[in-house]
Amino acid sequence: MIVTTSPKPDDALRETAKRLARFLGARLVPRKKRSIARLMREEGTDTVLVVTAEGPRLYRAGVERPFVYHPNTAMIRMRHLLRGDTDPMVELMEIRPGDRVLDCTLGLAADAAVLSLAVGEGGEVVGLESEPLIAAVVAEGLRTYSSGSAAIDAALRRIRVVCADHLDYLRQCADRSFDVVYFDPMFRRPVEASSGIGSLRPFANPAPLSPEAVREARRVARRMVVMKERQGSAEFARLGFAEVHEVGNSVAYGIIRVDAP
Ligand SMILES: C[S@@+](CC[C@H](N)C(=O)[O-])C[C@H]1O[C@@H](n2cnc3c(N)ncnc32)[C@H](O)[C@@H]1O
Repeated sequence: MIVTTSPKPDDALRETAKRLARFLGARLVPRKKRSIARLMREEGTDTVLVVTAEGPRLYRAGVERPFVYHPNTAMIRMRHLLRGDTDPMVELMEIRPGDRVLDCTLGLAADAAVLSLAVGEGGEVVGLESEPLIAAVVAEGLRTYSSGSAAIDAALRRIRVVCADHLDYLRQCADRSFDVVYFDPMFRRPVEASSGIGSLRPFANPAPLSPEAVREARRVARRMVVMKERQGSAEFARLGFAEVHEVGNSVAYGIIRVDAP
């Protein structure tokens, strides 16, 4: 893969491109007014990350739309929270200001953004993403996206993005070091209407959640381990989530409550 910029980059874009190329261990190439198809052909690659003033755009040969950061469903959910309304996920997790939440499957960080707003300045959301390309695009988006709301932008900036496989990361966490540990793996059967996640899918880690990761999460969580899946998914029973709450028409949250010590 290669990293490049939009055709007329300023110094800030050049610096961002350099930083992302270093993070990804990718070649940085000058754009020279070339189209994406021509870049792929001339540079012999099928994956191009283009750093633009509107954020990075990730192109892959054969994939119709580039992957870009956007807050997806988070914006409307965060506006509800700011109005004093509730969010079903925040309610189920019993989130309080000051909580620490480990989001083991960051993706577009829509859930992480809602959680970050809910835990507030005194809390912390750490978001783990195993795929460096997704981590790079989303971390950059969280750093620069402008929503028009200072409270929402601050919540996006506070999310700590870590590029790591969640099992590796969980194994290094102390017992009971996060209030909630959350998993939202790629659904075994995708929800077609979920177009926000559609653009992420070609770049995402499709692996099912492992029982080992759930076991580690139980050790690391102080209050509960939560998994989002499709309603009726066999994953809940396979992974030991006995308490399941359906929300809306398609998704459900499985909860494992962690006993007090
Ligand atoms: C369904 S998406 C999560 C969507 C996210 N909850 C949101 O609100 O945008 C799942 C994400 O988890 C990542 N992932 C899957 N397995 C992982 C693992 N073992 N460690 C870290 N990230 C993982 C995928 O690459 C993908 O980006």
